[in-house]
Amino acid sequence: MVKAVVAGASGGIGQPLSLLLKLSPYVDELALYDVVGSPGVAADLSHISTKATVTGYLPADDGLKAAFTGADIIVIPAGIPRKPGMTRDDLFNINAGIIRDLITGVALYAPSAFVLVISNPVNSTVPIAAEVLKKHGVFDPTKLFGVTTLDIVRSETFTASVAGKPDPSVFKIPVIGGHSGDTIVPLLSLSEPKVEISGTDRDALVHRIQFGGDEVVQAKEGKGSATLSMAHAGFRFAESILKAVAGESGIVENTFVYLPGVPGGDAVKESAAGLDYFSVPVELGPSGAVKAINILPQVSEYEKGLLEVAYTGLAANIKKGVDFIVGAP
Ligand code: NAI
Repeated sequence: MVKAVVAGASGGIGQPLSLLLKLSPYVDELALYDVVGSPGVAADLSHISTKATVTGYLPADDGLKAAFTGADIIVIPAGIPRKPGMTRDDLFNINAGIIRDLITGVALYAPSAFVLVISNPVNSTVPIAAEVLKKHGVFDPTKLFGVTTLDIVRSETFTASVAGKPDPSVFKIPVIGGHSGDTIVPLLSLSEPKVEISGTDRDALVHRIQFGGDEVVQAKEGKGSATLSMAHAGFRFAESILKAVAGESGIVENTFVYLPGVPGGDAVKESAAGLDYFSVPVELGPSGAVKAINILPQVSEYEKGLLEVAYTGLAANIKKGVDFIVGAP
């Protein structure tokens, strides 16, 4: 029996993500938590004739405890999204506290659940989550994931478009580093199938993958950021975890993890300027991350240049998250 929880379930991402989880054959129980509206979303979804039972919880009456207790997987898209002109780091002041409080709930009520952090800035909210779990003595780095799958989804779509291929889903392109602007490093040189894109076309494609989120923020004219494509991406990652739990082997997803705690992570850390957190392809197994795959030695000279830029931004984002919990020196 698999219990999945969405925290932030009434939001732009939370609602379609909850719908997709309700449709998944891997979910038996779906608990929806939010500070507003979750009982309504749950009532609505509960009428769909798939097997998962759906319940909605608000903070009142120990709702967080009821929602999280017994959870196998907790997906967190809670917090404010960007408006035009904002970077993901501008969300820190509000979302850092939201993540701290929700992860405290994880530590207290579901310490062995898989935790998938969608709330931005992911480069900082994942270190916040790790530090909160460490404080409670329940940190398992093989079960904490920053969801960067939307960068993968965008790289598949935009690369197919430039390469003139009709079906983006045939592409497999690693996207490593972090999840904001120039910390996002698409590895077009390792694309399968291979693509020949160079010069200004490559620069433009890389820039579009790094800043694709801005296109959505601008098109929504102040009403939020990516929600539907993010729900798809979050579900794709969550379902990969659930498939691995169900015993499927060979599942690999790019995700932002705490390297020293994941098998193979030390080699990645050494290649990635000593950073503790980094997104790389990670093999998933029944109990979580089985192996961080070090593809950094395979990158092209051009991509090495992108990585140098990413390291600097990431180091600052990670430190900001850690300091939020352990206190700045
Ligand atoms: P939204 O504002 O539509 O929904 C957020 C939901 O979180 C709301 O329903 C709100 O009531 C809820 N919430 C606020 N505080 C809460 C708390 N303490 N506990 C539980 N729920 C709480 O925002 P949207 O568009 O769904 O985005 C959510 C987050 O996801 C944002 O931080 C956004 O930046 C991030 N995001 C991440 C992406 C990624 O690739 N990782 C891509 C797109 C967005």
